Amino acid sequence: MRTSYRTHGGSLDYWQRRWDGVAVDSGAVNLVRYPGLYAEQVINAPRPDGPVLEAGCGAGRVLRHYHENGTRIIGMDFIASVLAAIHREDPTIPLVAGDITKLSFPDETFSAVLAFGLYHGLENGLNEAMADTRRVLKKGGVLCASMRLDNYQNRMTDRMADKSATTGASRFHKLNLTSAEFHALVSGAGFRVETVHYVENMSFLYKYPALRHASQRIFSESVARGAGYRFNLVGNFLQRTAMTLAPSRMANLAVITARAI
Ligand SMILES: C[S@@+](CC[C@H](N)C(=O)[O-])C[C@H]1O[C@@H](n2cnc3c(N)ncnc32)[C@H](O)[C@@H]1O
Repeated sequence: MRTSYRTHGGSLDYWQRRWDGVAVDSGAVNLVRYPGLYAEQVINAPRPDGPVLEAGCGAGRVLRHYHENGTRIIGMDFIASVLAAIHREDPTIPLVAGDITKLSFPDETFSAVLAFGLYHGLENGLNEAMADTRRVLKKGGVLCASMRLDNYQNRMTDRMADKSATTGASRFHKLNLTSAEFHALVSGAGFRVETVHYVENMSFLYKYPALRHASQRIFSESVARGAGYRFNLVGNFLQRTAMTLAPSRMANLAVITARAI
């Protein structure tokens, strides 16, 4: 396991600042890209018979989509202000403020847990978080979770970030796990891993505006979060080639689906 650091790192205050600057998402999540593509494989395959938890729901792109299509889904995050903002937009969405390392739900509450971009943000308590996730899932329930990979892609991203840093003072930013470490973490908590997908979310190539799709040349966090981080023709060619030749080295994330046993 490798840890990434940033001058603007920190966990709680990083997310507080990040969500303070961003509008609440609409439910228009792209279902052919991460994370919608993977949520879809859990929620419509077939739809779980019990409630679904979106742990670390953030500004609500996944949560709102599934709430609007009739799924019994609850959003949980440790940033109360982002939950309050979602509530102002749609007071019918069930929301709970909490920490993934110590969930307040009773044992075996959920049929599925979605956790995109959550576990690698934990400076402490990764094993506890996975154990508590297992605790709140029913036996046979499904976890769909992503993890930042310890690979070439993320080492490049971290190197670029280190170069643009203005001071040397660094704080915790993200954990990076190899695919094998992620697999061991999940199975060690009482799951049987069913699928592992290597996923591009935001490639380091996207940091070059010349490679971005014309509609995203000027970066907007909420546009990119809804539509995905899109490339132009050249960017697409480079990224597609890299992903075809070496998916485990060029992906940002691994997404695991696993069943509680
Ligand atoms: C990368 S964002 C993903 C948001 C959302 N799942 C999505 O895909 O749009 C990770 C989220 O996890 C939340 N988070 C980080 N650490 C947490 C913790 N210990 N407990 C609960 N939520 C946490 C952050 O506030 C943030 O909203």
